[in-house]
Amino acid sequence: MDLLVGGIGQLATPTGAGPRRGPDQGELSVRRDAYLLVREGRIAEVGEGRPPPFAGPALDAEGRVVTPGLVDPHTHAVFAGNRVQEFLARVRGERYTGGGILTTVYATREASEGELVELARPRFLRMLQLGVTTVEVKSGYGLTLDDELRILRAVRRLGEELPLTLVPTFLGAHAFPPELPREAYVRLLVEEVIPAVARQGLARFCDVFCDEGFYTVDEARAILAEAREHGLGLKVHADELAQVGAAELAGELSAVSAEHLLHVSQEGIQALARSGTVAVLLPGTAFVLDEPYPPARDLIAAGVPVALGTDFNPGSSPVASLPLATSLAVLRMGLSPAEALVAATLNAAAAIGLADKVGSLEAGKRADLVVWDVRSYEEIPYWIGQNLVQAVVRGGRVVWRSSPTPSST
Ligand code: NIG
Ligand code: FE
Repeated sequence: MDLLVGGIGQLATPTGAGPRRGPDQGELSVRRDAYLLVREGRIAEVGEGRPPPFAGPALDAEGRVVTPGLVDPHTHAVFAGNRVQEFLARVRGERYTGGGILTTVYATREASEGELVELARPRFLRMLQLGVTTVEVKSGYGLTLDDELRILRAVRRLGEELPLTLVPTFLGAHAFPPELPREAYVRLLVEEVIPAVARQGLARFCDVFCDEGFYTVDEARAILAEAREHGLGLKVHADELAQVGAAELAGELSAVSAEHLLHVSQEGIQALARSGTVAVLLPGTAFVLDEPYPPARDLIAAGVPVALGTDFNPGSSPVASLPLATSLAVLRMGLSPAEALVAATLNAAAAIGLADKVGSLEAGKRADLVVWDVRSYEEIPYWIGQNLVQAVVRGGRVVWRSSPTPSST
């Protein structure tokens, strides 16, 4: 697809093909009065002033802000049922322990592949309307060979059908299925499920919920070692509920990302800095569970690249809005709007191994971008809980436009 995006009041983007860390976390290229030229779905040129003559289709940003399409590097978006009863119990004061995951496992096991596709489709379309063009999706509500494979097949179907890029992660080690002894399930994962997932090409990454009441560091190490043997990239749900040394494990294994990190230790932060692992922070979860936010400033100071995601799931984070996550990151975690934008674009792309393809608006990258109905990128986290997205372009094609309202901000 060819396209000229003209009339860009402000074009704000990180630059580079890898994650940005430390003082560079907040480095953005900001151009005024810019244009962007797309050829065959990729960015051919970004410039300022008058665009070159162009015969193809054009999108006029009418002075608005353009950023890269947002990248959500952590969701659990394919599931059946909901957990509104658990939500109400928490509102009454009950604490989240992760036990509710099994409620969703039972509901998801009852759903066919087609039903999972139907349930998840509108969730992804809502994310797209919020400016997200790439989404990582974890399995983990099946906990048997067949049920996990079915979830991953639903992700693959949705990725083929929808105008978003879906990146599948195998999270069979999300909880323990009640019908098997713990060791037997770990063995099943290692001996059967991981090989099957890899053989069928159903996942790019393998993740383990390494936390209090869930997988121990030793179990996680064994599962991830097997995943690596089968060519999967490694991720860790690390120290979300308690400090168990999961970030240290992510560093030891040079995992691509360590995610959550609400209770990460100082040693864990140092381990992530040494290995270059991306910290995927999920402020929606801390907000929903009323837990302390992860130590984003300490991570950035230590040189760990920080990414932001939603953790969208029916239990701990029924939050599908990545722009809202940027608001929470700025207001509660001390990120600047520039750091938050880098975290939700280039660093999020790095957390799913795609920083050379998406996450910034530069020649050669895929033309995934968002037109925001604001005048400066700082307004994206500032206007909280409103959808400011005017248009979404994916691969050079306009895939969503808000109904035409006059620009008001
Ligand atoms: O990321 N931590 C584990 N998994 C999810 C919660 C999933 C659920 O509650 O259903 C999380 O918070
Ligand atoms: Fe999660």
